Amino acid sequence: MEQLIEAFGRFHPVLVHLPIGFIILLITVEILKLLKLFRMESASTATLWFIAFLSAALSSVAGYFLSKEGGYELASLTKHQNQGIALTIICLVAFLSKWDYLTGKIGFNSILYVPAILAAGIMVTITGHNGGNLTHGESYLVEKLPAPLRSMLGFSEAGLPQKTVKKEIKDYNEAVVYQDIVKPILEEKCLSCHNPKKMKGDLRMDTPDLLLKGGEHGEILVAGKSDESEMIKRMLLPESSDEHMPPKGKPQATADEMEILKWWIDNGHDFSKKTKELKVTPQITTLFKINSNAASERAVEIAQVSYPEEKEILKKNVPEITEDFNKKVKETGGVISKISKESNLIDITFFSKPGLTDQEFTALGKLPENIIWLNLGNTKTGTETIKTLTALPNLTRLHLEKTALKPESVTELLKLKKIEYLNLNGNPLAEADLKKILSIKTLKSLYVFDTGIPDEKIEELRGQFKNVSIQSGPTKKQIEDFLKIEKKKINDDVYAKKK
Ligand code: HEC
Repeated sequence: MEQLIEAFGRFHPVLVHLPIGFIILLITVEILKLLKLFRMESASTATLWFIAFLSAALSSVAGYFLSKEGGYELASLTKHQNQGIALTIICLVAFLSKWDYLTGKIGFNSILYVPAILAAGIMVTITGHNGGNLTHGESYLVEKLPAPLRSMLGFSEAGLPQKTVKKEIKDYNEAVVYQDIVKPILEEKCLSCHNPKKMKGDLRMDTPDLLLKGGEHGEILVAGKSDESEMIKRMLLPESSDEHMPPKGKPQATADEMEILKWWIDNGHDFSKKTKELKVTPQITTLFKINSNAASERAVEIAQVSYPEEKEILKKNVPEITEDFNKKVKETGGVISKISKESNLIDITFFSKPGLTDQEFTALGKLPENIIWLNLGNTKTGTETIKTLTALPNLTRLHLEKTALKPESVTELLKLKKIEYLNLNGNPLAEADLKKILSIKTLKSLYVFDTGIPDEKIEELRGQFKNVSIQSGPTKKQIEDFLKIEKKKINDDVYAKKK
């Protein structure tokens, strides 16, 4: 029964066209009659008003059931509901004022007809408009109008959904993480469905309090544990899944945005701290292109990770890089920063140069021994570039995610003498090659998410290479388990409702 009622509710947007159609028809008829262009008997008009009344009543009932599904702002909903009821009553009054039976008995009812028909015209417009706003948002109708026309109609720019103007952040260290970095991501990717007007899953994401409150299944953020946070879990699901956020076909969060959201939650999802007050991961360092100002935070982060080779290298004294090399890297689109205030060791990232090719990289010439971290992630570099890296005596962390890594490059990687962190996410890999890489003595962390190697194989290799932390993202099984829990939650809900 419950299901039937719910299904009926969904017909509300279709049913409402009936009273609208009848009322427009009746108003047109009355105007044409006034102009003596049309004739219609009073009894027929009365019948039509009766049908208009019935269809309005039916729409109201369907609307009531639809509202039970939730997800609408209460104040607007109540207003629309009252208007719907008023419209239904107005149609009834119009019918009664035209009804011969009554006219025969009391006679004065017919004076109500003109006010009723005027009221019906006004009310149907208002109700319809507000109903549309409930589903599409306040400014849907005028959003595409030219700005001057829009303001003539009384819609200010402020009334429009706030398009996130991504404020250019000059220094990420000083940025307030939630306000300047996290919020714009949520606004762009989530807010269209989780806002005051449209609360899908009973979830609003427009203020800190509401983010903390969560949705119909409770909290969506678990401080310090992004992998247990509903928000992240849903975003990590395959896009084809019904539970995936944002839903299939909607603009998706990028890998970098995911990284930022995860980092924010892992740091306790604070709403007022700045980047420099949080613990920065290597990925975030690169992503934000944090320069040498961040050196001291980085020193903390280095100290927290136990990479023995790195610790030894950090004690070394190397001469500063040449001005010439500095210039060349900048011209190629790379960003150089010192690893700590006390050291001349450097981190180079080509984060802002996704098109970087082998040719461009090798044109940098002889690479200085200063390079301890190198990020070539998301560039087009491949074998030729990797060959030049083998000459780097101090390279401990290398990002090669989503590059043009070829199987023949793998043997080159084996020559990296001090490598402790290697990110190969998103590069197709053969199992045999992965095994070779894992046998690099110094290796401590290996990232192999989305490399085409089956979960079971990776699990097996984890058993074999206990010294290396192998990161491979959620397994198929974890995703399936998650979906099962979600299904169960939904079933529990239905059960709870029936009880
Ligand atoms: C196109 C609309 C749409 C967009 C955009 C969207 N969502 Fe949703 N969201 C929904 C719907 C519909 C539901 C309820 C159905 C469900 O539970 O799957 C929901 C439910 C959720 C829930 C579960 C709430 C609960 O307690 O049941 C979370 C968490 C969530 N969304 C997070 C997000 C995040 C994070 C984003 C942005 C990255 C996002 N959503 C973007 C439509 C959307």
